[in-house]
Amino acid sequence: MITPRLQSILDMSDKAAVTADIGTDHAYIPIELVRSGMSEKAIASDIKKGPLEIAHRNISEAGLEDKIETRLGAGLSIVAPGEADQIIIAGMGGEMIESIISGDINTARSSRLLLQPMNSQYELRRFLIKNGFRITGEDIALEGFKIYNILSVESGSQEPFKRDIDYHLPPYLKGHPLYRQLLEKKRREFEKIISGLERSKAPDNERLEKYRGLLKEMAK
Ligand SMILES: C[S@@+](CC[C@H](N)C(=O)[O-])C[C@H]1O[C@@H](n2cnc3c(N)ncnc32)[C@H](O)[C@@H]1O
Repeated sequence: MITPRLQSILDMSDKAAVTADIGTDHAYIPIELVRSGMSEKAIASDIKKGPLEIAHRNISEAGLEDKIETRLGAGLSIVAPGEADQIIIAGMGGEMIESIISGDINTARSSRLLLQPMNSQYELRRFLIKNGFRITGEDIALEGFKIYNILSVESGSQEPFKRDIDYHLPPYLKGHPLYRQLLEKKRREFEKIISGLERSKAPDNERLEKYRGLLKEMAK
C-alpha cells in the first residue's frame, strides 16, 4: 500500500536507470518506481532474509522479476559505486542511515540519495553537511498523526546552517504546507526533553539551557 510517506518518497524520486532501495522490506518503493517508468531497473536489498522473501514475492506478483533484482546484505555493501544512479534509504533511524552512508561513503557519493529517517533528523542533517553532502530538497509527509521528513541529497558542499535550530527546522521548509505540524512536533519534542531534565534528580543544566534556548528560538 502506498501511504503518504511512501508517496512523498516516490514524488521526490528522479528518473533513473537503476534505483537501489536499501532496507526494502516489502519492496513497494522499487515496484512503484519501475511500474511507473521512473526507474528502468531496481535493486531491492535487505539485511534480513524474511523481508527479502516478502519483497521477492511482491515483485513476482507485480510481474517485475526481470527488472527488480533482490539482494541480501547490509547497507550499501550490496551495490557497487556508480551502479545505481539513485539510492533510497527509508524507514530506518537517522543514526542507522548515517552508519550505512559512512560504511560505504564512496558508493554514497556516487549516487543521488533519498533519505527518510524515522528519527534523529537533526543529527542526520548535521552529519550530511559536515561530511561533504548537499541537501538539495526536503519534503514533509503526514501519516495519521505522524510527521516524516524526506531528504534528497547529493555529493557536494553546503554552507553549514547559521543557527543550531536550523538543523531541527531547516529554513527552506518554512513555506511547506505541513510546516506548522513539523513545528508542533518539534515543540512537543523539546518540551518533553525539558520536563524530563527538570524532573531529574541530577539535571544536566547545560542540556536543559540548550533546549530552553531552542524552544525560545522556535517561538520567534
Ligand atoms: C521499517 S523497514 C522500512 C521498509 C521500507 N524501506 C519503508 O520505508 O517502508 C526497515 C527495513 O530495513 C532493514 N534493514 C535494517 N538495517 C539494515 C541495513 N543495515 N541494511 C539493509 N537493510 C536493513 C530491515 O530488515 C527492514 O526490513
